Amino acid sequence: MRRKIVAGNWKMNTTPEQGVQLVKDVLKNLGHACTSVDYIVCPPYTHLSEVVKVTRGTAVQVGAQNCAEETKGAYTGEVSAEMIASLGVRYVILGHSERRQYYGETSATLNKRMTQVYANDMVPIYCVGETLDERESGKLWDVVKAQIEEVIFELSDEQYHRLVIAYEPVWAIGTGKVATADQAQEMHAFIRKTLAAKFKDAAAKTPILYGGSVKPDNAAEIFAKEDVDGGLIGGASLKAEDFLGIGKGFDAV
Ligand code: PGA
Repeated sequence: MRRKIVAGNWKMNTTPEQGVQLVKDVLKNLGHACTSVDYIVCPPYTHLSEVVKVTRGTAVQVGAQNCAEETKGAYTGEVSAEMIASLGVRYVILGHSERRQYYGETSATLNKRMTQVYANDMVPIYCVGETLDERESGKLWDVVKAQIEEVIFELSDEQYHRLVIAYEPVWAIGTGKVATADQAQEMHAFIRKTLAAKFKDAAAKTPILYGGSVKPDNAAEIFAKEDVDGGLIGGASLKAEDFLGIGKGFDAV
């Protein structure tokens, strides 16, 4: 049985105070939600310390949205994996399409970040996904395969065991256009097959999350698919009720 995960990517939203309130609201209502789900919240760096404190000993874990590719030193404005890990953060999102698109992240820079995350005993949530053009021109399989091979295939077997993948079609992020459950399943199965070419049976244990306009009313259908192990949620993770409502999608599975 693979773990079921609902992770919230808050992106550049909320002040620290609002973020703490949001996570408190999640915790307050979590008792009523499905407990077989691992919830992860990924606030901005500025909130991590407080959010870790508030969630300590609860079912909610904390992730960062990125980390620096270098260990330490003269890199103005960067935040290292060691700094993040020292706060008690367990996950780091890497390779989100917004980072690839706006900040020029490539497989080469992501390999370095992966190394940093593992060196500090955290777990990467590695994002892959195609643009609308790539889907429409039939390049989606090659694009996603390359995103996996160039980064994940560089991992050791030991590192591979601590990995979450998120499939986020770029055309579905923040657009309200959600992939159909069948489109999600088709790509998730392809990703798992790609992973199995190198990591063999271990690929069956890797959680693969779907991301892109997941809402409480479409989560259950997508989560019901065999290779979909949860969601990476943007907009809907900013409301405690919606975030938990998405987790309830697993109740219907
Ligand atoms: P969305 O974002 O749920 O707002 O589409 C998902 C993501 O970017 O992780």
